[in-house]
Amino acid sequence: MSVTLATAGETLTSSISPLTFKGAVATLRSLLSNDLEAVNGQILARMESPVDLIPDLAGHLINSGGKRIRPMLTLAAARLFDYDGDDHIKLAAAVELIHGATLLHDDVVDASALRRGAETANTIWGNKESVLVGDYIFSSAFELMVAAKNLNVLQVLSRASGVIAEGEVLQLATQKNIETTYEMYIAVVSAKTAALFAGASQAGALIAGADEKSEAALNNYGHNLGVAYQLIDDALDYAGFEADLGKTVGDDFREGKMTLPVVYAVARAKPDEASFWRRVISDGHQEAGDFDRACELMARDDAIADTITCARKYADRALADLLHAPENDYSMALAELVTTSASRGS
Ligand code: IPE
Ligand code: IPE
Ligand code: MG
Ligand code: MG
Repeated sequence: MSVTLATAGETLTSSISPLTFKGAVATLRSLLSNDLEAVNGQILARMESPVDLIPDLAGHLINSGGKRIRPMLTLAAARLFDYDGDDHIKLAAAVELIHGATLLHDDVVDASALRRGAETANTIWGNKESVLVGDYIFSSAFELMVAAKNLNVLQVLSRASGVIAEGEVLQLATQKNIETTYEMYIAVVSAKTAALFAGASQAGALIAGADEKSEAALNNYGHNLGVAYQLIDDALDYAGFEADLGKTVGDDFREGKMTLPVVYAVARAKPDEASFWRRVISDGHQEAGDFDRACELMARDDAIADTITCARKYADRALADLLHAPENDYSMALAELVTTSASRGS
């Protein structure tokens, strides 16, 4: 079946997409293979330092893989608007470095032991080391953005990194708070994840000189894809498999994170189940079997299914945003990414 931007929408809503998210990522990777190689070169060059711990720890994170979704958004957005310079490489590398620094800090905050299928840097080297090398990586990202010599892009991406930090801090305020609402959850996700997806996409359009309407469309696309992506990630933290995710399933539960599956499960709990959620989330007193019980309650009350439905709603919006962009191989690949994003992991 041939899928155009318009029919991709029908495919999405009828849930019969023949494609997978992994396939959509692979399509983007092959379209952008030369650019991506250059991006990886820039990233590795930036990690050189006479202080051995920096290339060791940063290299561990960078060489353990990562899907490179955010830099591909920058590259694809630039190519989508026929960009033929090479500053998009620096920007895409900066975007992945911002993401990498964020992950180093996030794994400390979340006390996570597994990332990209390998032990986390905080497990191997320690929290202090992860935080400080994360700071170094952030600075490297800013040096690269400055090298691209475009103040508007610098503004977009520096704002995005500030908003990510705000989102992580805001999430701390909702942690263990079973009164957290859908709106509060969306505010956290919009900041901690979608801001970089949005900034990465917009930066590509900006460097390519796209008009304001197209630039805004790419920002909206990134935002909506980013929210959908995090929603699925939060569903997979209960319903996924460690081998697929390269991360430990159940981290969010252990930390008392008020992700959407929990928000729904708490709202739908029977009166005698409220004390369960208070004990495991608010009080943080967890016993063997609690995670399985939480998963059972979520399944009974459609908490995971409705989280996926919510992701689908955001994916639909992202697809609609793309209708404001030219139709070519790059926009088609970006469309595939959203149409498959809500079924990621299934
Ligand atoms: C992980 O992002 C953090 C989230 C927003 C869920 P990715 O799933 O893009 O991680 P990598 O870069 O591919 O490892
Ligand atoms: C993603 O947050 C990291 C940021 C966007 C800052 P999570 O804590 O939800 O993601 P994972 O599960 O560690 O990848
Ligand atoms: Mg985390
Ligand atoms: Mg986190």
